[in-house]
Amino acid sequence: MTFTVDDAPWWTGAVVYQIYPRSFQDSDGDGVGDLRGVLQRVDHLVDLGVDAVWFSPVYRSPQDDNGYDISDYQDVDPLFGTLADLDEVVAALHARGIKVVMDLVVNHTSDEHPWFVESRSSTDNPKRDWYWWRPARPGMAPATPGAEPTNWASFFSGPAWEYDEATGEYYLHLFSRKQPDLNWENPQVREAVYAMMRWWLDRGVDGFRMDVINLISKNVAPDGSLVDGPVTTGALGDGSAQYMHGPRLHEYLQEMHREVFDGRRDGLLLVGETPGATVDDGVLFTDPQRRELDMVFTFEHVGLDHGPGGKYDPAPLDLRDLKAVLGRWQAGLAERGWNALYWDNHDQPRIVSRFGDDGEYRRESATMLATVLHLHRGTPYVYQGEELGMTNAHLRSFDDYRDIEALRYVEEARALGHVSDDRILTGLAAMSRDNARTPVQWDASPNAGFTTGEPWLPVNPNHRHVNAEAERADPSSVYHHYRRLIALRHDDPTVRLGDFTMLLPDHPHVYAFTRELDGDALLVLGNFSGDEQQVDVDATWDGADVVIGNVDDPAVPHGGRVRLAPWEGVVLRRVAAAATGG
Ligand code: NOJ
Repeated sequence: MTFTVDDAPWWTGAVVYQIYPRSFQDSDGDGVGDLRGVLQRVDHLVDLGVDAVWFSPVYRSPQDDNGYDISDYQDVDPLFGTLADLDEVVAALHARGIKVVMDLVVNHTSDEHPWFVESRSSTDNPKRDWYWWRPARPGMAPATPGAEPTNWASFFSGPAWEYDEATGEYYLHLFSRKQPDLNWENPQVREAVYAMMRWWLDRGVDGFRMDVINLISKNVAPDGSLVDGPVTTGALGDGSAQYMHGPRLHEYLQEMHREVFDGRRDGLLLVGETPGATVDDGVLFTDPQRRELDMVFTFEHVGLDHGPGGKYDPAPLDLRDLKAVLGRWQAGLAERGWNALYWDNHDQPRIVSRFGDDGEYRRESATMLATVLHLHRGTPYVYQGEELGMTNAHLRSFDDYRDIEALRYVEEARALGHVSDDRILTGLAAMSRDNARTPVQWDASPNAGFTTGEPWLPVNPNHRHVNAEAERADPSSVYHHYRRLIALRHDDPTVRLGDFTMLLPDHPHVYAFTRELDGDALLVLGNFSGDEQQVDVDATWDGADVVIGNVDDPAVPHGGRVRLAPWEGVVLRRVAAAATGG
């Protein structure tokens, strides 16, 4: 196994909380959350018991992609406050024993970053090569349809290249046209990024969440050209084989590790966001001996409900697929590497609406889902509001959406005309990133205690009954369940480090697994349905002790059989006598 009780890093026993500052707490009434707002809610984080907070970007930014387009890596956007406010937040969290992890967005910058402003100014500017500039496709007139240097589609619809009249060339942007990709082939770019990272660590932050870090190395042909991908929509193609896990990715990460983290104090956290990563990639990223990253966010499990038309064409989850995917990751990283565990983040719809039931069984399904996730081997991440059982926004009109990815998709889908407006709206309502971005619901007051102004994205009307105040008052709430799960990980070495074994892989409704460490054994059962489910388990679990449950009378096996209530989730500990008896 990767770690033993004696040498396991701190983050094996930790839970990380993600704050999306824009939607967390507004302190000045402009309808957008900010850093002084975070200061008002430190007690919530302390009470929940989390060990670290990851902040989505608060850097200076034109906010084209809500801060994932950075124009100054070493300053705070006035929308969120000042650098002094950030220092105060870091100090306040540190004073309560909570670490601070910054989002690190270095696959691209904003087009308003001075580096790009210089780069685009002329073909012989010293920073020209800091980004990916290419002439039009040979034989084609610049700026004509299809003349882009490659056929790659952007993640935000349309081509990944933007023509720039000033110099008659195109620049690459895998995301929006205001997010040009940095050219990591250039050693000056890498040194500038590392210097910036060291500056943040010197300032006292405890690590980084590295945005789409597996896209930083592009596959460049010997003649300097980039290569088309297989055609997907219209004339556009999927270029991912050319820029995901590119040839120099691991070299860059190892260099970053050496240049930024070597010789630093213990207690840091490096987590990479790696869409498209396989288990084998995961091992390469997180094997401690390779000195790259501590853990990565993988995407296979959050793609299982994407239908044939992609993300906005949702399909029902088949639980067997979820078990196959998560089980494969658990097995693949058992000996080397470490998992980051998540359901929600600022890019994903709310889990209780997605894999649970956000109506009648909201509390039960949210707590069951939490139980299953937090009992896996890995470091769980809680996205703001997940601990309150917040649901999707159920927005019904195009005008309600703010997210650039959704807006671009709507534009493209309507232009192509293959999908009706009604289906586009249904897809958005289920899958849009704005589902995760509605303001945190603190109380039942008109704007949920988030702002005294007009919130930048509507508050979910269900805040009248789904809110932190109500959750805190109810000992059986989603919130208190998360508190118990977090405390359990802190206290229980088997939860932290125990071996994982998937059970009942073919059962369509019950998620079941064990965790075992030095003779101690836990059984975790989750009913992913609104019906009672009865399953057979090994007789050694008969009469097991309930560690944590989410219904009044939690399921305990008898005669090798256990009956689970709708959406029940339970953790059981094998009693010692049964263990010695086999
Ligand atoms: C991943 C981030 O999580 C997402 O919000 C962002 O739009 C893209 N990377 C581009 O930075």
